[in-house]
Amino acid sequence: MHRTTSLLLVLGVTFTFPLPALSLLLAGEAEEGAPVHESRCLGCHQANFGGDGSSVYTREDRRVNSIEGLMGQVERCNRMTDANLDADQIDDLVAYLNETYYRFGD
Ligand code: HEC
Repeated sequence: MHRTTSLLLVLGVTFTFPLPALSLLLAGEAEEGAPVHESRCLGCHQANFGGDGSSVYTREDRRVNSIEGLMGQVERCNRMTDANLDADQIDDLVAYLNETYYRFGD
């Protein structure tokens, strides 16, 4: 094998594994997600679950158990409630909810 090729392979292996912390890979900004969450999501969760509404994310039988599940659920809530959030706002919400409650990838 050519020396440059093997060097690139070694670099590839070194820098691909281990993966960086998941929070670093999320596209969204938690700080941007917080106000969207407050204005578009919180009221209904408070009405349905009482208190500050956060128990929907922390209850024992919660539905979301992975980062993919969280992304899917935020999309579903967006469609279900006709919130009309754009892709950036969805990414921000995912980052906010993961950082604040779910903490997948820690
Ligand atoms: C009209 C009411 C309503 C609105 C608005 C709403 N939700 Fe929900 N959401 C619910 C209800 C009810 C559940 C619980 C569903 C269940 O248990 O089957 C839920 C559950 C969830 C869950 C799953 C929690 C878990 O792990 O079990 C996530 C995540 C979520 N909502 C995110 C959002 C986001 C993000 C928004 C804002 C874009 C939003 N929701 C807006 C009513 C709402």
